[in-house]
Amino acid sequence: MKALQVAIDGPASAGKSTVAKRVAKRFGYVYCDTGAMYRAVTWAALDRGVAIDDTQAVADLAHQIEIDFKPGDPEQRVFVDGTEVTTAIRQNEINANVSAVAAIPAVREEMTAQQRQIAARGGIVMDGRDIGTTVLPTAQVKVFLVASAAERARRRFEENKRKGIATTTLEELQAAIERRDKLDSEREVSPLTQAPDATRLDSTHLTIDQVVDEISGLIKKSASN
Ligand code: DC
Repeated sequence: MKALQVAIDGPASAGKSTVAKRVAKRFGYVYCDTGAMYRAVTWAALDRGVAIDDTQAVADLAHQIEIDFKPGDPEQRVFVDGTEVTTAIRQNEINANVSAVAAIPAVREEMTAQQRQIAARGGIVMDGRDIGTTVLPTAQVKVFLVASAAERARRRFEENKRKGIATTTLEELQAAIERRDKLDSEREVSPLTQAPDATRLDSTHLTIDQVVDEISGLIKKSASN
């Protein structure tokens, strides 16, 4: 079977990473969580006392740091210059600042270049906001995964509880998710939008397995063409 590039985009907490990980496993593909890369830059800025609104300094930092992924179960492990940040990048302080970091054009340029390198050999499932539109516009399979904001807040709430991450109320979580959707959709560079040739999947009433099966079907169909 051909080693394809699979792009999965969509708003926060639509289930992209869970689904992308399982699809990658099923086909023996590499999984790349691009949101984790923007989170890693945000973590580095906060850790080193770089002001998030100092866009030049944050961009410089994005060039300097080395972001690495290592396989882990149930979560892929993330490192910045050798320091493990897997849990740290999921904290509320990162959630509150990452959209601003991801809106800096020079940061996006750097992340996009690194992501293209990771995906160059194919056999990759990459999830994010701009993979099908900007990072891998020629990906053979493109999915735009959505779910209602209420359902996404509910899922994030359960996930936080499971992972022992301090969580706010369900209402506050939904408001934060909607705020992030708005910032991600309205930024100037590579906003969150569906690529014209992407398949839209609404997971509000679907199980994870159903979504994984749908995407697997798209991959098989594309690989046999
Ligand atoms: O998927 P996530 O919640 O971990 O993403 C974190 C932030 O990074 C989110 O606010 C949007 C941004 N992001 C982006 O702008 N482009 C991507 N390809 C992935 C994430």
